[in-house]
Amino acid sequence: MQQVATTPTSPDTNQPKQSQHKYWRGFFQDVVHQHSYQPLRVEGAIPDDLNGSYYQNGPANFSSHGKTLGHIFTGDGLIRSVRLGNGKAEGAVKVVDCVGRQRERTEGKPLYDEHGGLKWQQGYRMERIKGLLTGELPFLNAGNTNILPWQGQLLALFEADVPTLISPDNLDTLGTTNMDGNIIGPFSAHPRWVSERQCGYNFGIRPDGQDTLLDIYAMPRQGACQLITSIKLDRRCVGYIHDFMATPNYLVFFVPPMHATMKDLFNVALGASPFDMSKWDKSLGTEVIVVPLDRPEQPIRFSTDPFFVIHHANGYEENGKIVLNYMHSADHSLYRQLGDLHRGLPITYLSETYPGLWDGSSSFNRLTRSEIDLQKKQISYDMLADLSCEFPRINPGLQGSKHRYTYMLGMPPGKPEMPLFSSLEKYDADSGKTETLELGDEQYPNEPIFIRRQNPSSEDDGYLLSVIYDGHNHSSYLAVIDAKKFNEGVIAKAHFDQALPISFHGNWLSS
Ligand SMILES: [Fe+2]
Repeated sequence: MQQVATTPTSPDTNQPKQSQHKYWRGFFQDVVHQHSYQPLRVEGAIPDDLNGSYYQNGPANFSSHGKTLGHIFTGDGLIRSVRLGNGKAEGAVKVVDCVGRQRERTEGKPLYDEHGGLKWQQGYRMERIKGLLTGELPFLNAGNTNILPWQGQLLALFEADVPTLISPDNLDTLGTTNMDGNIIGPFSAHPRWVSERQCGYNFGIRPDGQDTLLDIYAMPRQGACQLITSIKLDRRCVGYIHDFMATPNYLVFFVPPMHATMKDLFNVALGASPFDMSKWDKSLGTEVIVVPLDRPEQPIRFSTDPFFVIHHANGYEENGKIVLNYMHSADHSLYRQLGDLHRGLPITYLSETYPGLWDGSSSFNRLTRSEIDLQKKQISYDMLADLSCEFPRINPGLQGSKHRYTYMLGMPPGKPEMPLFSSLEKYDADSGKTETLELGDEQYPNEPIFIRRQNPSSEDDGYLLSVIYDGHNHSSYLAVIDAKKFNEGVIAKAHFDQALPISFHGNWLSS
């Protein structure tokens, strides 16, 4: 039987810790070993009132079966978790053992290509074509984008497929779930919570023959996940509606001006990258779809000037309008840029290929406030911070309500040698100012998560947690920052015994 190169990691703890690349490139190396919860070395003092479990998810590997992945979004998921309590920390690191990898082991051969798609090979072609037409997308369910505690379960989310259940005890993979048949297609990695309704919402983009459908789901605090409506899209932009926003009465989607023709779809069926399938066509404009939660079958739709959004920060209703805070980009090229970072390319590649991205002269990833007037079917925008940022998070108790502070990763201009997000940012909507926390030379943070203190005295009375990659030592640590004393920097570190690759999203579950 042919030996299968399956998941990228091995339990070998004797691997060298030196990065094969210097500094930021070490952020894109495969994880070395997996482990269940074990004590982490703590530096500084972890606050006594920080008790709970931190979870993050992102790719574990950047190649598969000897081939460099076509995009970092394709790597198998890696769940990283830190339990904090009584001033101590214990961490666990596990690769999501997805169904596709299990199938490869069962069938004894590589089945998935560098784009995560079922390889265009004899015996699997009809499955690949059929999947692209039916919504059962023939891609590895890598489970690599978010990790969400919900109703006592841990869900590893991947927008092209159903959730994967993860054991809260040891992060082992328990299998995929379609929630008793209630999820009928892809399920996004960005559910949004609406406190007023005690319900979360999510969506999925599902090809259905010639059509592309936007499925919308309710995820109540108690009871079953339910499909509440399916909206037919006018364009086939699979993979490019990554996030959305929920307010007490509305869900809002920005549909980018991208469309894949049947020919594009055919090329993907033959093995082309799905990330290159939908082409940017600014003449289409960006479509705004507003779904009233009490009448989800009656969405309000209109188009505006073209722009692109990867992530939203928060949304709320004020003076009869819907207010959204999100990261605004001129187009979708950041997706491609992200996809190239793991290739170890010359430093000049990035600045030459994406001019303006690193020096602050282009309009990518700007925290932006928009107002939607549903009566007039109009949207207006205001750029809030003139700095390239991403991964915005707020105090989770204010989701759907007016908030003051937004926490983000920042890319201070003038550092082409550090072409990644390398600072933490705190935007204050009252003052309009952004506070920057520089983390030091070759320190690369991941998404900051805000945790409220009990009985807080203010909106920012809590902690920020972010796993930081130390490019000098090729190692990673969980950083604790007092959000109210943001400029005082990291107050405690919990060190993993290895470098962890870049991660995308995660959540906190209080004890
Ligand atoms: Fe995301």
